Amino acid sequence: MDVILLGAPGAGKGTQAKALEEHSGLVHVASGDLFRSALRQGTELGMLAKSYMDRGELVPDGVVIRMIMERIAQADCHRGVIFDGFPRTIDQVAALTVELERQGRDLRYVLFLKVPEEMLLRRIAGRETCKTCGSTYNVYYFPSKRPDVCDECGGRLYQRNDDNMETAQRRLGVYFAQTLPLIDHYRTQGLLREIDGQREITQVTQDMLHVMESNGSHA
Ligand code: AP5
Ligand code: MG
Repeated sequence: MDVILLGAPGAGKGTQAKALEEHSGLVHVASGDLFRSALRQGTELGMLAKSYMDRGELVPDGVVIRMIMERIAQADCHRGVIFDGFPRTIDQVAALTVELERQGRDLRYVLFLKVPEEMLLRRIAGRETCKTCGSTYNVYYFPSKRPDVCDECGGRLYQRNDDNMETAQRRLGVYFAQTLPLIDHYRTQGLLREIDGQREITQVTQDMLHVMESNGSHA
């Protein structure tokens, strides 16, 4: 089965997708991570994406859709995918729906992580990410044991370019304008499940697993 994680910037999509991947065996596919990895490799795609990401704007639909379709066509994704950060626009939803149907895949749930706006900004401001393994920390909620060093792999921690307050506010504006309508779309399809994203990380993971295991009732 496939699962989509929907939620604002800072809602905890990446954190939860990583935990769900460990528990469920599904493959975590994160559009933002794919762009950041392309940028580290110095590809044209990475450079193009950076020009949008640094401004807090969405990368054009055609570019994102092509990248995600290529990723989910790879063999490891046949066992099921957790989508993180995709889809984000109605056109992306349309493209994904067609492709999932074409491949005979089963989109089972859209898990919507609900978090109040002031908490989102604090989470973004405090986020630190490992350059090597991608683990995230938070200077307010759970700092790494040693400053700037990843507990998991010893890699260096950095702050994402788009995690300054000005860009974060813009990302939130884009989210409200372009991504929020997806919630109604998936609710109408009967796929949406709301998850309280304010709770402790492990609790949120448990709530998501509970929904995924129980075939829970519609939100
Ligand atoms: P992307 O990388 O997808 O960023 P985002 O959607 O803005 O989301 P974030 O990664 O900021 O937040 P998250 O929900 O993953 O939170 P996290 O788990 O890290 O996209 C970046 C850019 O790429 C876009 O702006 C756009 O330019 C481009 N892009 C990507 N996809 C695109 C698409 N489909 N179309 C077009 N353009 C696209 O958690 C945040 C912090 O909070 C961390 O420090 C974490 O440790 C902490 N935290 C998490 N959960 C909790 C909790 N329960 N309690 C306390 N702290 C917590
Ligand atoms: Mg993320």
